[in-house]
Amino acid sequence: MTVDMSVSVGGLRLRGPVLAASGTFGYGTEVPLLERRALGGMVSKGIFLRPRAGTPPPRIVETPSGMLNAIGLQGPGADALIREYAPLWASWDFPVLVNINGESVGEYGELTSRLDGVPGVAGFEINISCPNVEQGGMYFGNDPHAAAAVTEAVRKRTRLPVWVKLTPMVSDIGVIARAVEAAGADALCAVNTFVGMSIDLNAHQPRLSFRTGGLSGPAIRPLAVHLAHQAARSVRIPVLGVGGIMRAEDALEFLVAGCTAVQVGTATFVNPRAIADIHDGIKAHLETHGFSSVADLPRYLPRD
Ligand SMILES: Cc1cc2nc3c(=O)[nH]c(=O)nc-3n(C[C@H](O)[C@H](O)[C@H](O)COP(=O)(O)O)c2cc1C
Repeated sequence: MTVDMSVSVGGLRLRGPVLAASGTFGYGTEVPLLERRALGGMVSKGIFLRPRAGTPPPRIVETPSGMLNAIGLQGPGADALIREYAPLWASWDFPVLVNINGESVGEYGELTSRLDGVPGVAGFEINISCPNVEQGGMYFGNDPHAAAAVTEAVRKRTRLPVWVKLTPMVSDIGVIARAVEAAGADALCAVNTFVGMSIDLNAHQPRLSFRTGGLSGPAIRPLAVHLAHQAARSVRIPVLGVGGIMRAEDALEFLVAGCTAVQVGTATFVNPRAIADIHDGIKAHLETHGFSSVADLPRYLPRD
C-alpha cells in the first residue's frame, strides 16, 4: 500500500508532515549536506529587520532530557537574508518560511514588506516571543491584543502564508490562539521554548550568561503536546506541533492530539537524520494501521 504523506497546512501543500523548526537549521546553508527527501519544509532562524549580535556565550547548556538556549536572536538582518540566503532557498524543492521578529508592531510590518515577494521566501512564521519595547518590554505573545496587532500588521503586508508561533508562557493558550486566528493567521505553531534556568554550583551563578534561556527537547514534550492540543481545540485553522519530538511516536502524539503537521528542533542536534527517521516512522505507522494518508490518522479533538 502506498501512503500519501503530503499535508495541506496554513496555505501550503507540503510533501511531508515534518518540518525543521526555527533556530535549529540556521538559514539552511548545511541543508545540501543532509538527506532532504523527507523534509516537508524549513523555518529559518529568527530574523530582525536589522543585524543583531545576540547574547554573549555561554549560550547553550545541556539539562536533563533537554537544553537551555539563550542565543538572543542573533542574525544578519533582512538585507543579508535577501542577498545571501533567499536565492539558495529559491532553488529547493520544499518551502522555506522566514521566522520574523520585531521590537514593535511597526518593525514586524516593515520586515514583512521587505521580504514579501522575494523569491525563496514561501511564507512567514511570526515569533511573538519578543519583548514589545514600546510597551515596557511585555512579550507580544503574552497579551492577546499585542499578539493580534502583530499578526494584523504582517497579514496586511503579504498574501503569502502567515503562521504564528505561540509561546507556552501564558495562562490560557486558547485566548492567544483565538486572537491571532481572528487577526488573519493561516496556521499556528505550538509551542516555542519554556523559560528556564540552570545554576553552576562551582561558580555559584547561572550557567547561561543571559541568566535564563529557552528550554527545549524531550523534557518539554508532554507540556507541548497538551498546549498544542489546547490550541487546536480553540481554533479552526491548522496547528503545527513543536516541542521535544525525537522519534516518530512523539510526532504521532502531536498529530493525534489535533495537529496537522509537526516541527522538529533539538532532535537534529543529536541526530542529523532525525527528520528522515521521524518521517519514515510516521509512514510505517500509517501503513501498519491501514491508513492511506496522514489526514486519515484519527484525531482526538473534542470540541466541548
Ligand atoms: C538553539 C535554538 C534556537 C532557536 N531559535 C528560535 C528562533 O529564532 N525563533 C523561534 O521562533 N524559535 C526558536 N527556537 C525554538 C524552536 O523552534 C522550538 O520551538 C523549540 O526548540 C521546541 O522544539 P524542540 O524541543 O523540538 O527543539 C529555537 C530553539 C533552539 C534550541
